[in-house]
Amino acid sequence: MIKFIEYSKLEKKLKYSNCSPSDLPVRIDFYEGHTNSFMFSSSLDLGTNPDIYYFTYIPARWKNMRAYFYDRNTNQLIAPFVFDGDIDLKDYDYEDYLTKIQKQNSLGQQAGVNDVLREHFSDRQYENIVDVEEGDVVVDIGFNYGIFSLGAIMKKASKIYGFEPNKNIFEKLKDYPRKDIVEIFNLAVSDKNETLTFYEGDNTLGSSIYDSVVDYKESYQVQCVNFYDFIKSQGIKKIDFLKVDCEGTEYEVFESIPDEFFKTIKRIHVEFHYNTDFRIKSLINKLERNDFDWEFEAGKDHNSDIGLIFAKKKEKNYYEAFEKIKHLKPKNDFEKFFLNRKGKKNIHKWFHYLEVYDRYFSKFRNKEICLLEVGVENGGSLEMWKHYFGPKVKIYGVDINPNCKMYEEEQIEIFIGSQDNEDFLESLKSKIPKLDIIIDDGGHTMKQQIITYEHMIDHMTDDSIYICEDLHTSYWSKFYGGGLKREGTFIEYSKNFIDYINAWHSKEQQIRFETKNVFGIHYYDSMLVLEKRPIKEPFHSDNGIIKEDR
Ligand SMILES: C[S@@+](CC[C@H](N)C(=O)[O-])C[C@H]1O[C@@H](n2cnc3c(N)ncnc32)[C@H](O)[C@@H]1O
Repeated sequence: MIKFIEYSKLEKKLKYSNCSPSDLPVRIDFYEGHTNSFMFSSSLDLGTNPDIYYFTYIPARWKNMRAYFYDRNTNQLIAPFVFDGDIDLKDYDYEDYLTKIQKQNSLGQQAGVNDVLREHFSDRQYENIVDVEEGDVVVDIGFNYGIFSLGAIMKKASKIYGFEPNKNIFEKLKDYPRKDIVEIFNLAVSDKNETLTFYEGDNTLGSSIYDSVVDYKESYQVQCVNFYDFIKSQGIKKIDFLKVDCEGTEYEVFESIPDEFFKTIKRIHVEFHYNTDFRIKSLINKLERNDFDWEFEAGKDHNSDIGLIFAKKKEKNYYEAFEKIKHLKPKNDFEKFFLNRKGKKNIHKWFHYLEVYDRYFSKFRNKEICLLEVGVENGGSLEMWKHYFGPKVKIYGVDINPNCKMYEEEQIEIFIGSQDNEDFLESLKSKIPKLDIIIDDGGHTMKQQIITYEHMIDHMTDDSIYICEDLHTSYWSKFYGGGLKREGTFIEYSKNFIDYINAWHSKEQQIRFETKNVFGIHYYDSMLVLEKRPIKEPFHSDNGIIKEDR
């Protein structure tokens, strides 16, 4: 009655059709074939036409998966299918443990375990940026059934400490493999030592000390410890990999760790929850001030209530770069600020730009000015402008990445949008005052640089500076469409400015906006600086006597 068509490994979709003469209301239960445990269930009504195909998305790509089709009216099994993805759980070598715990689990719990298995071994979610390496000391907070740590065992971690407050799961962990290197504590962790009520949800993944989280089926008292005090008391002297997924106490766990110890951690993976009012910011600040590069999981941003952050200690060459410049004597306040920045929010600038900034920007210091920078990235340069120009500057940032919004603070406002979107730029102009300084340090493509210049130059005050940065992209053919003297590059485009400001003296060149508004254009390596102010038709003079003729 049901015809199996195919399983597409690439799309993770099962394709089938209904060949029976009548409509069929079905429920399909999916099972993971190695441990025979429940994955998920799907209900739908199948029409009679056998040429119409139905698809079901299967999250994981395991080998030996099963789909059981039931008639929803009679609850009769109509068709069982076995189909293969390309990932064999057998390769992971802990089938026995998994089979054993899944056998004891309810269907909801089985689905929960399967979901975590998928995250780790099918999606390889934890391998994005940071991963466990051979010899690592791993701390796994929110151990659950230890699926993450199974991966850590495979990757040859030297020691694993797990924390799991759920008493029912902890009971099953007595069968956990490699007890020679794995030590598991039946404890909740935060920044306090106290007894807490723990709310256990049906599939156990959402269990937490917050009763608001889950439709809990059971609640009981658990012991909670201050994370850092506890690991000290256990003589744990280092953590190479810290995995935190503890349904809401992650903020307190991070709070408990003093900076001097935090700095020594190499890689971190944290799932955050309850991110109301951007609670995550304190955690990110901790990562930044302790020299971590970090990223949100793709597709999630700082506004998400729940999401993942991957962080790793900055690479050795980051420090080497500082070694290279640390002997330099700062020539101005920009350089002084930059050279004393190790470990703070990253500023991404070529070093010689700093001298150019000081040359043109010093007259604006401590004045009530407005500055716009396109390209916020880690917010480091915005901090630099604030520091250099003082308490009266109003700074606007533009970035395409919504996460940049988090760098807003007093004096700094961020707009999210693309610098080559003309409507976005026009609407931006209606929201901000005329600008004294614009720095284009955005995506650096020709189109972006040209559109931004053309839309923003008329939104500047009568004594202002426009800077376009990273003009070397005009010479780079790969990705940027550049090339020496290639038509359409920003360098070629801006060379026309020379003719425009000299249009007074040419019969062929028309008077342009630049003729009447640009006092000077200056090229530096990778940088164009344009001084904007009203220009009157030039006149020449001898010893103070103005001559009428040209
Ligand atoms: C070179 S980084 C900026 C560095 C920052 N100004 C600093 O000095 O630390 C470039 C930034 O431009 C942003 N960007 C890329 N394409 C963009 C676009 N079309 N519109 C706006 N921003 C864009 C990127 O998200 C990135 O944050």
